[in-house]
Amino acid sequence: MTTILDIQNLGKIYHSGDRELTVLEGVSFSLQAGDTCSIVGPSGSGKTTLLGLCAGLDRASTGSVTLNGIRLDSLSEDKRAQVRNQYVGFIFQNFQLIPTLTALENVMVPLELRGERNVQKQAMELLGRVGLAERHDHYPTQLSGGEQQRVSLARAFSNRPSILFADEPTGNLDEETGEKVERLLFDLNQEAGTTLVVVTHDLELAEKTQRIIRIKGGHVISDKAVHHNQLE
Ligand SMILES: Nc1ncnc2c1ncn2[C@@H]1O[C@H](COP(=O)(O)OP(=O)(O)OP(=O)(O)O)[C@@H](O)[C@H]1O
Ligand SMILES: [Mg+2]
Repeated sequence: MTTILDIQNLGKIYHSGDRELTVLEGVSFSLQAGDTCSIVGPSGSGKTTLLGLCAGLDRASTGSVTLNGIRLDSLSEDKRAQVRNQYVGFIFQNFQLIPTLTALENVMVPLELRGERNVQKQAMELLGRVGLAERHDHYPTQLSGGEQQRVSLARAFSNRPSILFADEPTGNLDEETGEKVERLLFDLNQEAGTTLVVVTHDLELAEKTQRIIRIKGGHVISDKAVHHNQLE
C-alpha cells in the first residue's frame, strides 16, 4: 500500500493585529492511496483550514504535510502549485469558480495548465457527467448554487487527481442532486482509485466513507473506521 497523505503534528495559528488565534493544533493522520475518509465537526472547528493545508493551498504554522511522498511544507508557493496541479483536486466550500470564464472554460483551466490536448472535448465530457453539458456557455453568476457546485466538481475531476478534497460537496444541493454528486465522488474513487477526503455535516455521507475523523476546537477528538455491511 502507498501512503498518499501523511500529516504530522499539524498546527495553524492566524495572527490578526496583536492577537493570535490557534485554529488547529497537533493534528496527525495518514491515508493510503484509494482510501475514503470524512472529516466532521462543528462550524469553526478548523475543517476547511485543515483541508487547505493537506492540499497545499495554505501553509501550516507547525508540523508537516507529505503528499505522495513530497514534503509540501518546505516547498515554495510555485512548487506547491505544481504538485497541486499534478495530484490534487479540490472542491471548495464556496466553489471559487472564475467569474469571467464560462462553465466550460472553468473546467478547461486545469487541463490547459497541464498542457493537455483536446481540452475542450474533455471538459465538455466532464460537464456532461455532472449533467451540465447544455449550460456550458453560462457564466457562474448565471448558474444556481448547486450548478456552480457541479461545475466545481467537474473542474476538480479534470486533472484526474490522485487525491480529491471536497469541502461540503453536497452542502448546497437538494437531495436528488446531492445523491448524484455523492455517486460521482464514490465512482471516481472506485474507477480511478482516487483517494477521497470529504468535509461534511451530513453524517449519512460520512458513514459511507471508510473512516471518520472528528475535529473540535482544532483538535482531533476521534478517528474511527466505519464498518460497512458487505451485503449492502
Ligand atoms: N484567514 C483567517 N484569518 C483569521 N481567522 C481565520 C482565517 N480563516 C479561518 N479563520 C478562523 O479559523 C477557524 C476555523 O475556520 P474553518 O473555516 O477552518 O472552520 P470550519 O470547520 O470549516 O467551519 P464551517 O463548518 O463553518 O465551514 C474559525 O474560527 C475561523 O474564523
Ligand atoms: Mg468550512
